[in-house]
Amino acid sequence: MTYDRVMWTSVSGLTFVGLLLIIDVCMASAEWQGDLSAYELASFHNPDQEDVPRAQTFNHFTLSDHGDVYVGAVNWLYRFNSRLEQIQNASTCDDSMPYNGMPCRRTNNYNKILVVDSTRPNSLITCGGVFDGICQLRHLRDISIVESESTPNVAGFEDATTVSLIGPKRDSNKMLYVAVTYTGENVISKAQFPAITRRNLTSNPILSVLLHNAVFLSGAASGVDFTIKYVTTFDFTGFTYFIASHKEDLMSAHYVSKISRVCQTGPNLDAYTEITMQCSGSDGSVYSLVQAAHFGPAGPDLAASWGLHADKQVLYAVFAKNQGAQGTSHIPTDHSAVCVYRMTDILAGFTEAVRGCIQDGEDYKISYLHGSTCSKFRNVQPDNFLCNPVADDTNSLYKYAKGITPVSSTALLEEPGTLMSSIITSTEFNHTVAFLGTSRGALLKVHIENNTAARLYERVILDSRPVLTDMTINDTTTEMHVLTEQTLIKMRAENCGQ
Ligand SMILES: *[C@@H]1O[C@H](CO)[C@@H](O)[C@H](O)[C@H]1NC(C)=O
Ligand SMILES: *[C@@H]1O[C@H](CO)[C@@H](O)[C@H](O)[C@H]1NC(C)=O
Ligand SMILES: *[C@@H]1O[C@H](CO)[C@@H](O)[C@H](O)[C@H]1NC(C)=O
Ligand SMILES: *[C@@H]1O[C@H](CO)[C@@H](O)[C@H](O)[C@H]1NC(C)=O
Ligand SMILES: *[C@@H]1O[C@H](CO)[C@@H](O)[C@H](O)[C@H]1NC(C)=O
Repeated sequence: MTYDRVMWTSVSGLTFVGLLLIIDVCMASAEWQGDLSAYELASFHNPDQEDVPRAQTFNHFTLSDHGDVYVGAVNWLYRFNSRLEQIQNASTCDDSMPYNGMPCRRTNNYNKILVVDSTRPNSLITCGGVFDGICQLRHLRDISIVESESTPNVAGFEDATTVSLIGPKRDSNKMLYVAVTYTGENVISKAQFPAITRRNLTSNPILSVLLHNAVFLSGAASGVDFTIKYVTTFDFTGFTYFIASHKEDLMSAHYVSKISRVCQTGPNLDAYTEITMQCSGSDGSVYSLVQAAHFGPAGPDLAASWGLHADKQVLYAVFAKNQGAQGTSHIPTDHSAVCVYRMTDILAGFTEAVRGCIQDGEDYKISYLHGSTCSKFRNVQPDNFLCNPVADDTNSLYKYAKGITPVSSTALLEEPGTLMSSIITSTEFNHTVAFLGTSRGALLKVHIENNTAARLYERVILDSRPVLTDMTINDTTTEMHVLTEQTLIKMRAENCGQ
C-alpha cells in the first residue's frame, strides 16, 4: 500500500466520523425540548382577530414557483413573499349576510381548496364553502383578480373535509381530482352526491364534471349518518389515491381507515377500489382513525430494512385511537401512532380487492356507493381490469371493489397523551426523519430507524393551536413551512450546530 493510499483512507475515515458526529448532534440520544427561536426564519400571525361570532382560523397554504406563499383562511386569502411579508390580501367573505349591520360577519367562508393551477400560467384555484361552493380562478400575481368562477358544489362547507390534486387523465389533459364529505348542504340533489370527481380545468364554467367522471354515494348512504373524513390525496403511477376514515360499509357501525384509488387512464371512475389500512400498537390494540399521511421516499436505512431500493416511495401515516371501545366512534383521542406501509403491499391489496369483486361476488362490493356490483367469473384474472372493468368492450366485470383483508402495519412509534395532526418526512444522510405536528401546536421530530423502530428525539413548541395537515419541506434548503390555526411558520428543519 502506498503512502498516498494510506493518507486517503485515513482522511475519508475522518470525514466519515465527522458525518456521524453531525448526525448525533442533530439527533440527541435522549428526547429533548428544542426552542423555536433556534429554527424560525419567519412567521406570520393571523391578523383577523375581530371579536365576532366566527372562527378566524387559517386553513391551507401553498407555494408558487416564484417563491411566493399563499394562505387560505376563513374569509381571507393572503399572499406573501418568501420572507412571509404580506404582499396582498383578498376578502372571500359573503357580505350578503350582515351581522349587527356589519357586512361579512355571519358566514364563515372556510378555504377548502388552494392549489396553484400548473396547467396555465399564473393561476391559483381557491374554493370555499359559501356561494354554493363555487371556486375562483385567481391571478397568482394579483389575488384580487378573479379570472373565472366554477360550477357550484366543488368543495365542502365548514366542517366538510375536502382534498384535491391536479393529475393527468388518459388523453394527457390534466384534471382536478376532488374528494368531498357529504353534509346534506353541499348538494344539488340529495339523491346523487358525487363524493369523488375529476373535473375539467378548461371547461366554461371551469371545474365542470360529467357523470362518468364521478363516484356517487348511494341514496341510502346520504340518508343515514355515513360521514367520510378525507385526510389527503396523492398521485402514483397512473392512479389518484385518497386516504380517509369512515364506517366500514353501510351496514357497519365500525370505524376504520381506508386508502382508495381511481385510475387516471380509465375511461370513467368505475374501477374505484378501496382497502382498509390497519395500524396496530405493540399490545395489539388498533389505532383506527387516520389523521394525516405523507407519500414520500424511504431513506436508505429504512429502505434497506425492507429490502427496497433507497428512495422507493412508501406511505407514512399518523393514526389516533378513537373514543370509547375500539372502532366505535369517529372521535380521535390523545393517543396516536405512526405506521409506515410499503407500496407493494398496498398495490397487492388493491389487486386482491379487484380479484375478489370479479371472481367471488357480492362480499367485495361497496354498498355505500351508487351502483356497485361484483361478479363470479372464476377464471378471469384481475390484472388487465384495474383501470377499466369491462371485458370484450361490453361485459362489465365489476363496479367499485373493496378489499376484505386489511393491509396491516405495526406502529413504529406510539405516543399516549398526544394527538398527531400532520406528517412530512425527509432524508438526512441515511436516516429517515419524520416531522409530526400535534393538536397542541408542537412539532415532533422522529428518527425512523428501520421498518420496526422509530425514536422521538426532539419536541419544539410552535404555538398553542393545532398544527394543520399542510406541511412542506424543501429537500435542497431543508427549510420547512408549517401552518397552525393561527400562524404560518417558515423554519429550518434541523439546526445541528445549536
Ligand atoms: C389587508 O391589506 C390591507 C392593505 O395592505 C391592510 O390594511 C389590512 O390590514 C389587511 N387585512 C388583513 C386582514 O390582513
Ligand atoms: C374540457 O372542456 C373542454 C371545453 O368544453 C372540452 O373541449 C374538453 O374536451 C374537456 N376535457 C375533458 C378532459 O373532458
Ligand atoms: C449509508 O448506507 C450505505 C449503504 O448501506 C453505507 O455504505 C454507508 O456507509 C452509509 N453511510 C453512513 C454515513 O452511514
Ligand atoms: C431496528 O432498529 C432498532 C433500534 O436501532 C433495533 O433494535 C432493531 O434490531 C432493528 N430491527 C431490524 C429488523 O433491523
Ligand atoms: C427549494 O428551494 C430552492 C431555493 O429557494 C428553490 O429554488 C426550489 O424551487 C425549492 N424546491 C422546491 C421543490 O420547492
